[in-house]
Amino acid sequence: MMHSASAPGKVILLGEHAVVYGYPAIAIPFGTMRATAKAVPSPSGSGVSIIARDVGRALHVHLDDDTPDNALTYAAQLALRALGKPSLDLTIEIKSSIPIGGGFGSGAAVSAALMRVIALAVERPFVNEELNQLVFEVEKMHHGTPSGIDNTVIVLNQPIFFQKDKLIQPFKVESPLTFVIAYSGVPASTRETVGDVRKLYQSNPDHYGSILAQIGALVTTGQNALQTGEVHQLGELMTQNHRLLRELTISSEILDRLVETAQSAGAFGAKLSGGGRGGNIIALAPPEKSEGISAALRTAGAVRTWLLILGEAPTDPKT
Ligand code: PMV
Repeated sequence: MMHSASAPGKVILLGEHAVVYGYPAIAIPFGTMRATAKAVPSPSGSGVSIIARDVGRALHVHLDDDTPDNALTYAAQLALRALGKPSLDLTIEIKSSIPIGGGFGSGAAVSAALMRVIALAVERPFVNEELNQLVFEVEKMHHGTPSGIDNTVIVLNQPIFFQKDKLIQPFKVESPLTFVIAYSGVPASTRETVGDVRKLYQSNPDHYGSILAQIGALVTTGQNALQTGEVHQLGELMTQNHRLLRELTISSEILDRLVETAQSAGAFGAKLSGGGRGGNIIALAPPEKSEGISAALRTAGAVRTWLLILGEAPTDPKT
């Protein structure tokens, strides 16, 4: 029997990087881009293999290998161990439309889809809390010291206010908000940017600690603006957040250009989203200007743009 499972990408609306230091952040699932995993039975005794054509990998999962150097095999191992090491003969094909290194949570989404399909194959679906913990373990391999925001928003598939070691707060908005998302086409390593912010912070804890605290404060204001639909205020906070991220040295020439372009084309505000130094930007747009903003962003160098309407489409909690 064939099984399939999927998980969405994500964007961070406010608070990346500071969230690693315990400040709050806001993240939204982005279901237009997804990772999917399909599992089909394979010949008896062949064990579990993973095929990821997008990245040209064919991997065999060795349950007892304690030093997996690949996130896919590590994710499969963790899932199999959590499920009591069932003896399975399975070929799992992974596909993803989420740009790798794009700040869209590709790693967490692939892990979530892969673990889900393994659990379906043994007819013991994970509850979200359990899956979230397992995906977080794999995130440590991807990111070093992840805050846990990516795995949480992707596994829950709901917009969240997130703070490390605090209760996660899913939220809804009163009226739909339109975001334009633009991918710079430049993949970047979150492990590296998070590490560089750490070095900056250690070099001057007063100065950089104050920038991280300012980001934390604007996220708290942003939560209210988001819920009450104060789009001008929310946009302004996003732009301020971008400026603070620049001070943390994690913007780049193209990200700055895309943020400025979105603003000149009529966005309420815009910022880089995710790890930075590449990846994507997110702009809050008046609905009637969203197409124009998208076109301007592509002219300014974005390789791809998408619309994300928060509060419009019902989210599917299962996938
Ligand atoms: O995976 P990315 O690039 O979307 O970045 C995640 C957000 C960071 O705050 C930069 C890191 C983290 O673990 O929270």
